[in-house]
Amino acid sequence: MVCESNNKSYLKSQHLKIIGQNTLRGKVKISGAKNSALVLLAASLLTDEKIILDNVPLLTDIEKMGNILKSLGVKLHNKDNQLIIDSKNIFVQELPYELVNGLRASFFCIGALLTRFGEASIPLPGGCNIGKRPINEHINGLRALGAEIIIERDVVKAKLVEKKSKLFGANIRLNCPSVGATETLIMAASLAEGRTVIENAAREPEIQDLCQMLNKMGAEIYDSGKEKIIIDGVQKLHGCSHKVIPDRIEAGTFLIAAAATSSSITVSPVIPNHLEAVLNKLEESGSKIIKKGNSISIKSNKIKAVDIKTAPFPGFPTDLQAPFMALMTIAKGRSKITETIFENRMNHVELLNQMGGSITVKNNIAHINGVKKLRGKTLVGLDLRSSAALIIAALISKSVSHIYGLEHLDRGYENFELKLSKLGVPIQRETSNKIISKTKCKSSESIKKEISEIKAA
Ligand code: EPZ
Repeated sequence: MVCESNNKSYLKSQHLKIIGQNTLRGKVKISGAKNSALVLLAASLLTDEKIILDNVPLLTDIEKMGNILKSLGVKLHNKDNQLIIDSKNIFVQELPYELVNGLRASFFCIGALLTRFGEASIPLPGGCNIGKRPINEHINGLRALGAEIIIERDVVKAKLVEKKSKLFGANIRLNCPSVGATETLIMAASLAEGRTVIENAAREPEIQDLCQMLNKMGAEIYDSGKEKIIIDGVQKLHGCSHKVIPDRIEAGTFLIAAAATSSSITVSPVIPNHLEAVLNKLEESGSKIIKKGNSISIKSNKIKAVDIKTAPFPGFPTDLQAPFMALMTIAKGRSKITETIFENRMNHVELLNQMGGSITVKNNIAHINGVKKLRGKTLVGLDLRSSAALIIAALISKSVSHIYGLEHLDRGYENFELKLSKLGVPIQRETSNKIISKTKCKSSESIKKEISEIKAA
């Protein structure tokens, strides 16, 4: 798998040096979707035949999920962006805490393991920098399908009720359209006895991609992408080949970076209707968008302030809230960004303010006064998408920035700096010989002092 050399501490000492005031030009190739590839890897546990996945992004999250599957005896063979997964001879055991702890998506394995083997033990995924990340929707849905679930010493232990050999179909209504819970329950229901109906289901494209692959494997799933999904359980699922859809969040990140730097670029491959809400907001703020088959071109000049409110698909995706805020820091006028999905997804505000932004936050609503310019800084990104936001701000800034926190960035963006450099950005990955500790909103003075010590050393 990829990135094996980048162990966590080594990654912590890496940073991107970005010379600001750039315009981007040309075409950028979008990788396969991280949030699709992760759940497709979990779904490969549903069959004892081979699954061939193409267009898998080379990311540390994918590497982690691969290691989790290997801990169950799954055989993985990867060649470039292709993964061949063989779950024929696997032994069900508790997933190792140290592997699960770093990857919430590992919890999505519970539905597949339970429905194929009748049991599953997975440590609680816990919260992260953006929120508590509860799993009650997953647990309640699995119980509705006939699972017995207890949580013992922070491990979720699931098994079939006595004498039952399978889960059985049920009508489930989610309290919130959770992406992960919808995916867990679709996988569990695919081999259950009878029909399952999931109401208030999440509609994200990654769920549609999962259902497409499961149906190729012999599942009977109808209306994925709608809020009511129907799954008729089958006896067995067979192997298949499947190509991961393009990453709409990566594509959106590059389009926002182009708007922020008054650039004209093309992103491809991409499925335009996966980004409708984002494209509408980019047009409303003054960019020209041209959709042509599986590519989107953007031409930007002056950007004006617009309000956004994150929402489940097809609304504005929470994963692009931080990058869009970087754009709004230099938009003309006042904008408002409301985060409705996660309770703590504003870590980037303080950091953008250190770069010259003028942003205040109250009750998960950010109020942004557009400023004329940003200044380059040395900062530490605190989560995956806030790191991307800092890089966009660095592209806009009038001087040099050093952005740390690449252990977050490398989770979700494949070859990010290489793609930016191909668009004409003077950017490079450097390694300092000191690990920059990531602390919340560390003052730039103290980071600058730490960096100067590095230079002195
Ligand atoms: C998926 O996370 C994505 N991750 C996230 O992407 C994305 O931000 C999120 O969906 C929302 O679109 C993967 O697909 C691996 P949720 P997930 O369950 O499934 C509440 C990124 O940056 N909730 O839809 O964990 C929860 O608190 C990552 O790529 C419950 O209340 O998200 C949250 O407020 C970050 N109970 C809301 O639902 C539950 O049992 C959405 O969470 C589950 C969730």
